[in-house]
Amino acid sequence: MTDKILIKKTINPFNKKIEIEGDKSLSIRWALLASQSLGKSTSTNLLKSEDVLNTLNCLKKLGVKVNLTKNKCTIHGVGINGLKDNKKKIVLNAGNSGTLARLIMGLLVHSKNEIKLIGDKSLSKRDFKRIIKPLKKFGAKFKSNSGGLPLTIIGTNNPKPIKYSENIGSAQCKSAIMLAALNTKGKTIIKAKKSRNHSELLFKYLNIPIKTINKNKFDLIEINGGSHFQSFNYKIPSDISSAAFFIILTTLSKNSKLVIKNVNVNPTRTGVLKILRKMGANIILKKIQTYKGEKIADIQVKSAKQIKPINCPTNLNSSAIDEFLIIFLLAAKAKGISYFKNLSELNQKESPRLKWGAKILQLIGIKTITTKDSIKIYGNPNLVINKKIIIKNYLGDHRVFMSSVIAASVYGGQWTIHDKHSIKTSFPTFLKIINKIKK
Ligand code: S3P
Repeated sequence: MTDKILIKKTINPFNKKIEIEGDKSLSIRWALLASQSLGKSTSTNLLKSEDVLNTLNCLKKLGVKVNLTKNKCTIHGVGINGLKDNKKKIVLNAGNSGTLARLIMGLLVHSKNEIKLIGDKSLSKRDFKRIIKPLKKFGAKFKSNSGGLPLTIIGTNNPKPIKYSENIGSAQCKSAIMLAALNTKGKTIIKAKKSRNHSELLFKYLNIPIKTINKNKFDLIEINGGSHFQSFNYKIPSDISSAAFFIILTTLSKNSKLVIKNVNVNPTRTGVLKILRKMGANIILKKIQTYKGEKIADIQVKSAKQIKPINCPTNLNSSAIDEFLIIFLLAAKAKGISYFKNLSELNQKESPRLKWGAKILQLIGIKTITTKDSIKIYGNPNLVINKKIIIKNYLGDHRVFMSSVIAASVYGGQWTIHDKHSIKTSFPTFLKIINKIKK
């Protein structure tokens, strides 16, 4: 089967209501925490993407019973420190998922045997020093040539609680430390630069002893580890990072309207909505409710009259970190120059995304100036593409693929976009939904 898609036509005006798949961050966190609980946990609307399926497979390798059906996932928790890691030569494959690879290591600081962690080409290029450093402080040891994958973790039978300053603003790093703290008797204190707070909200909902103090630039998190907690059921809300592609599709389409139901609009994730509104997008949240600490809403979007350039405030970077590629493609249509800065973390993702953002913009004839952590985009409100564009060799980054499909659907041209399989990482039904909107 061919692993590329050809797009030659722009999308016609539409008026649709859609539902999209479960949030990836929450799906992975639910599974990892359910494995640590006592009893049987179930989830509905769990994202059935490769990152999440790899999470379930890794848990199975560690002795956790998992049952996945079309509508429901059940995990039989083994309690804290209960993973069966005493078999020799356990190899965990995290595939493409940084979240899985980094978070699961937090659960392994007390493993009884060496556990090897591997991943695909993209994940193997990513930085694991950010995780090794704090987990070593708990007492775990590591073997890794370059601070990347493959790596081997050698747990300690006597982990010690730690004090740690997480200065990158990485939710994966913070959450790995939190999961290690959960399994470690005593008080762990983390001073964490702002990042998504799903782990904190879940710990609170589960009555795991946690205190958080939110300051302007960082959060103080205190966890008293070592006590068991009960299993829990969870209905995973839809993923704003997946919704973002359709929000921008609608913003850039003429005379169109879209409602996306039941999306997680946790304020640590909605930087994209704030940035889009500043750029002239017409977005309204409806049916706002709180579910187990998470804010959820239906998102209504209408075509924008005009796209305005933005000097993007850096305090929105963390809460929009996965959406910048598609935001850059929106800036291509702005009437003026947009500027995004302090974004070195973008080059630490599934592919170097600052570089890929600039590359796609250059291919569609938009001038950019990039530095190692910033990009200036010279928008063209009359942007129409008339040429052939080929997108390939981008490490199969799912968000490069999906951003390119959206650009092709609104700006025209003849696009050949390789690595279609990449959507399985985070959003397997992406193309089906585009087709539904087109009909
Ligand atoms: C994630 C955190 C973010 C994000 C990633 C998912 C998470 O990475 O880019 O897609 O679920 O914790 P950081 O760890 O760099 O914040």
